[in-house]
Amino acid sequence: MVPKAIIMAHSAIFRIFEICMVSSPFGKLKTAPAEKPGRGGFRSNPFSANSPVFVYILAPQQGVVNFARQVSAGWASFQPFWGKPLAFSYQFWYIIVSFTKAYAIAHNGEHNAIVLGETMIVLEVMVMLVSAKEMLQKAKAGHYAVGQFNINNLEWTKAILLTAQELNSPVILGVSEGAGKYMTGFKTVVGMVNGMLEELKITVPVALHLDHGTYEGCLKCVEAGFSSIMFDGSHYPIDENVEKTKELVKIVAEHGMSLEAEVGSIGGEEDGVVGMGECADPDECKRIADLGVDMLAAGIGNIHGPYPANWPGLSFETLAAVQEKTGEMPLVLHGGTGIPEDMIKKAIDLGVSKINVNTECQLSFAAATRKYIEEGKDKIGKGYDPRKLLAPGFEAIKATVKEKMELFGSVGKA
Ligand code: 13P
Repeated sequence: MVPKAIIMAHSAIFRIFEICMVSSPFGKLKTAPAEKPGRGGFRSNPFSANSPVFVYILAPQQGVVNFARQVSAGWASFQPFWGKPLAFSYQFWYIIVSFTKAYAIAHNGEHNAIVLGETMIVLEVMVMLVSAKEMLQKAKAGHYAVGQFNINNLEWTKAILLTAQELNSPVILGVSEGAGKYMTGFKTVVGMVNGMLEELKITVPVALHLDHGTYEGCLKCVEAGFSSIMFDGSHYPIDENVEKTKELVKIVAEHGMSLEAEVGSIGGEEDGVVGMGECADPDECKRIADLGVDMLAAGIGNIHGPYPANWPGLSFETLAAVQEKTGEMPLVLHGGTGIPEDMIKKAIDLGVSKINVNTECQLSFAAATRKYIEEGKDKIGKGYDPRKLLAPGFEAIKATVKEKMELFGSVGKA
């Protein structure tokens, strides 16, 4: 048994969400009862059952994500962590369980645990961002898609997270570099999202993902604590796209993050970048997919923003050819606004596992806000209070996200 007093002493000194001790025969982690829902910091069991290790349990906002990344990358890359424990934000705090006989750390479904001799300590740490890798692999296998909804501010983020939780759906929060800058920087975004995961008690898988990142933007998001990034190298010659993507594959692997790459630019205009909407070359897609990225955006005639009346539709021929060359790779459909439902369903059938939606939430937010003001509601009582003024737009985003999650088939898949 671990002396309970030591645990208690640690919990008194540091902040622990919950530690409950469950007697369990060593090695029976997988069958241990899940007593309470929750998500913890450790996602894998990199230690063999007999490794004597010092176990550092981190339960911070951001630190836990970084720690989990180190853990999932294995013991060897756990070591560098020692050098910079204070590099994390002020929210960083941790407990040190300095028992030399911590035998194993494991993630057992909903719980994380440390086994010490005959005792299993089940840790209920706190919600954390996850990489998009696992949720997209599940989506690909289950023939549905996870929505990426871009965020612009607190209302957007809250509306999307609450809808995902209500519908028990995994979700990806997309942040373009422009939106990141608008929200004062990526660190603000990470702080806001992590805070909301905790305060809103979000338990569904949530990835915080850079949308259409530059190489430099990707590095900033790694540093800031995002759990996923997209490197958009589609405007580079393919060899350069391959080189830069390859470097990022290495970097994200060290941090347990997921990486999206792009081949064949998406049409339309986003943050001042105009793509011509060319269809991707399936062989180039294979070259990028083989680098070890976690998801691939291939241009198939899709466009950011509303589709023009003369839009010829998605090129399913290209999508099928890309899918054939890239096999199990989850494919990403950008420009989710305004694509007819039957095309969305066909795209999912052909291997699309992530669909990005941005403009549609902006349009529904704007329409609801316009209606409120045009009806003069801001002039009635304290209708000018931003919490009232922005409420219809907030509800409109929720409705749009719900509609999309239902269409994409991700409801109940958390
Ligand atoms: P829409 O703005 O067309 O929904 O596209 C979003 C997107 O693809 C973000 O990357």
